[in-house]
Amino acid sequence: MLSSRVRSLEMSGIRKMFDAPAPNAINLGLGEPDFNPPAVVKEALFEAVRSGSNKYGPSAGLPELRDAIAERYRRYLPSTDRANVIVTCGGTEALLSAALTLYDPGNEVLVPNPGFVLYTPHARMADATPVPYSLREENGYQPDLDELEELVSPQTRAIVVNSPSNPTGGVFTAKTIDGLVSFAENHGLTMVSDEVYDEIEYAPGGHRSFWGRYDRVVVVNSFSKILAMTGWRLGYLVASEEVAAEANKIHYHMVACPSTPGQVAALRGLREAREDIQAMVREFRARRDLIVKGLNSVPGMHCVRPEGAFYAFPNYSWEGGSLEVAQALLQRGLRCTHGEAFGSLGEYHLRFSFACSRDTIRKAIQLLRAYGEEQPDRARPTARLAKAA
Ligand SMILES: Cc1ncc(COP(=O)(O)O)c(C=O)c1O
Repeated sequence: MLSSRVRSLEMSGIRKMFDAPAPNAINLGLGEPDFNPPAVVKEALFEAVRSGSNKYGPSAGLPELRDAIAERYRRYLPSTDRANVIVTCGGTEALLSAALTLYDPGNEVLVPNPGFVLYTPHARMADATPVPYSLREENGYQPDLDELEELVSPQTRAIVVNSPSNPTGGVFTAKTIDGLVSFAENHGLTMVSDEVYDEIEYAPGGHRSFWGRYDRVVVVNSFSKILAMTGWRLGYLVASEEVAAEANKIHYHMVACPSTPGQVAALRGLREAREDIQAMVREFRARRDLIVKGLNSVPGMHCVRPEGAFYAFPNYSWEGGSLEVAQALLQRGLRCTHGEAFGSLGEYHLRFSFACSRDTIRKAIQLLRAYGEEQPDRARPTARLAKAA
C-alpha cells in the first residue's frame, strides 16, 4: 500500500526532458555550472579525506563552517551567528526541512508560477496546499502585490520567494522586496527565501537578501552553484535561532548530518575561492549577453534579459505547447527544458541554461534559427498566455 502523500507526487517535469535519450544533443537543459569546483576546494576535499575527516559530524554542521556562513550574513544582520545556521544536504534538503518545520496540514503556501520545481511538492509533502502566484514577463517577472492580497487567506502560513529566479532569471527590485516584506508582515506570514543564486547577479550593486528584513525570514542557500559542486550535496538554511533549532530536528531525522569532508572543502571555498567565483560569474555574464542576442534573432522567439542565475526563459509564438516544442527540438539535437515544467505560466516558454560553453550556445542558436524559420507565424504568446491564465 502506498501513502496518499506519495501518490500525490509526480517526478519533476524537468526530468521528462533530462531523462529522454539523445546522447549527442547540444545540452542547454542542465541547471548546473559546467565548471569544476575551484582547485583549492578540490584539494581541500582530498586532504580532508586523506587526513581522516570521514566520520559523522555534528547534525547542524561543522561549527567553523556555520561561523563562516554566519559571517557572510552579518552584512545584512550584524547579530547573525552560528545558532542561526544549519548546514544541509544541498538547498534541496534545506527547502524540505523548512517546509516540514513550518507548514501544518491544511495550511496554504504561496509559491511562484513559474517557479522552481520543488516548492509545490514540498508543500504537499508537509500536507499543505500550494497556492501559485504569478510572475509575468510583462512585469519583469516581479510578483504582483495586488494579486497576492487576493490570494492570501486565513490559512496562508508562508510565501516562498526566489530571487534570482530559476527559471526566469528575474531579480527582485528594491521596491518589490519592500512590498513583499510589508505583505508578509501584515499577514503574519513566514517567508522562505531561496537565494541559491545570490552570487550570480549581473547588475551592479550586489544581491539584496531578505535576511534581516523581517524576523520570520528563512533563507535557503547552497554551495552547489557558486562552488560548482552540485554533486557534493551541500547547502544551508539561515533562520531565527528558534526556527533553526527546530529545523535541526527534522534535518537530523532525515539525514543525520551533512558530508563531513565536503564541509571542510566548502569552508575553504568560502575563504579562498572568491576570485574563482568572480571569474565564473564574469563568464556567465558574457554568455548571457550572447544567448539573449541569439534568442532574439530567432524568428518567433522573444527573450527578456535575465538579471541573475544562468537561465534564459524566452517565449515563442510557434505552434505547440512547450513540452511538444522541447521534444521536437530534442529530435533535432537540442536539449532544453519546457517552460510548463515550472508551472502553468511557464507554458509557451523554453528554459535554456547558459551554464555551457559559448560554442555550445552558438550551435544551439543556429539550430533554433533553422527551426524558427520553418514555423508559420502565430499570435503573440503573451496573448495566448493571457487566455491560458
Ligand atoms: C532555485 C533553486 N533552489 C534550490 C536548488 C537546489 O539546489 P541544490 O540542492 O543542488 O543545492 C536549485 C537547483 O537547481 C535551484 O535552482
